[in-house]
Amino acid sequence: MQPFERRDGELFVEDVPLARIAEQFGTPTYVYSRAAFTQHYLAYAQALGDHPGMVCYAIKANSNLAVLNLLARLGAGFDIVSGGELERVLRAGGDPKRVVFSGVGKTREEMTQALNAGIFCFNVESEAELEQLSQVASELGKTANISLRVNPDVDAQTHPYISTGLKENKFGIDIERAPAVYRRAAELPGLSVQGLDCHIGSQLTQLAPFMDALDRLLVLVDELAGEGIHIHHLDLGGGLGVTYRDETPPPVSDYMDAIKARLGDRKLSLMFEPGRSIAANAGVLLTQVLYLKPTEHKNFAIIDGAMNDNIRPSLYQAWQNIVPVREHGGEVKTWDLVGPVCETGDFLGKDRSLALEAGDVLAMLSAGAYGFGMSSNYNSRGRPAEVLVDGDRAHLVRARETIDDQLRGEQVLPDSE
Ligand code: LLP
Repeated sequence: MQPFERRDGELFVEDVPLARIAEQFGTPTYVYSRAAFTQHYLAYAQALGDHPGMVCYAIKANSNLAVLNLLARLGAGFDIVSGGELERVLRAGGDPKRVVFSGVGKTREEMTQALNAGIFCFNVESEAELEQLSQVASELGKTANISLRVNPDVDAQTHPYISTGLKENKFGIDIERAPAVYRRAAELPGLSVQGLDCHIGSQLTQLAPFMDALDRLLVLVDELAGEGIHIHHLDLGGGLGVTYRDETPPPVSDYMDAIKARLGDRKLSLMFEPGRSIAANAGVLLTQVLYLKPTEHKNFAIIDGAMNDNIRPSLYQAWQNIVPVREHGGEVKTWDLVGPVCETGDFLGKDRSLALEAGDVLAMLSAGAYGFGMSSNYNSRGRPAEVLVDGDRAHLVRARETIDDQLRGEQVLPDSE
């Protein structure tokens, strides 16, 4: 069974028709499939096999507590980028000893929180961060396991906003400088050098850039070993890209096999931080057509989903398929699917061939990653509900945001002023 499948013209997620979810929970709503999350995570875990290492799901892709909990139950590790994400892992029942902490701007408080929780490793992104972590750990009487995130200067051949491994990007430590920084790390108190990591970008659909980065990392591992600095794990950052339209990323097993083959007889455990490839095709965004507005120049379908619900089309010109949950006849026309937000850049899809009527429920596919997580309250719109389907049951895992939720914490000036 495919997690999202059309049966007699009706789109199902597992054994639940999406139309029923729209009726029950309203729109816009994110709908996830437990089976899909499970399959996608297991593809990594199984491809890693008995090679020592961990698959640390990148929470930023989709941080709903129920999603994290189901991955934790499968034994996943987690890649976090904030204290908030650490708290989510802990509340979802994740194991702090399987957590890596990425990101260029960890605060003292976040370092303290992560050290107290006992996370597996800090992926350190600058010399200044290294010094601060050493200080914080020493003050707490703890030792922070560290890995340096190096910037291997590799072109990931992806959208410039999600390409991170080039010299001009803010991420990581220049690979040329890395040996000096490792030497410094080895002498600083409160730190234990464990690993080496990189993350060159997201939505990579070819292996070559990953392999170029790996080759550079391995040269560094050998150079460091020559100086008596031993690296125990390699962390290659995010996972493979996904199919949104006609992209054909290689299977995870090819990726892992290629990596293992290059390690030779080096004793390195392997860490991965996949987000998109676990979450994207495990979710859809349901939205309803409010009005049809054909004009002389364009046919607009005004839908109740907007850029605040899924900003990917506006921000990256991302293309995600949009299909009716229930097929019906009628004339197919070319539509721009636009939301209620007051911005010309507010659209979920342009030039889509669809037979539409007001009231139709549409599913924006491949929306499980970087969808809800990047949503906002722009135009004071409540963020969508989130539903997780498990077989024939649909569970509300996040209630639609109300205006009271939005206003919590705001207040007006006292009367006298
Ligand atoms: N590890 C690190 C350090 C990262 O920065 C990222 C993603 C990942 C892992 C997960 O990468 P993935 O497996 O998802 O490719 N909002 C953008 C994507 C931003 C990715 C940022 N970093 C989008 O919607 O396309």
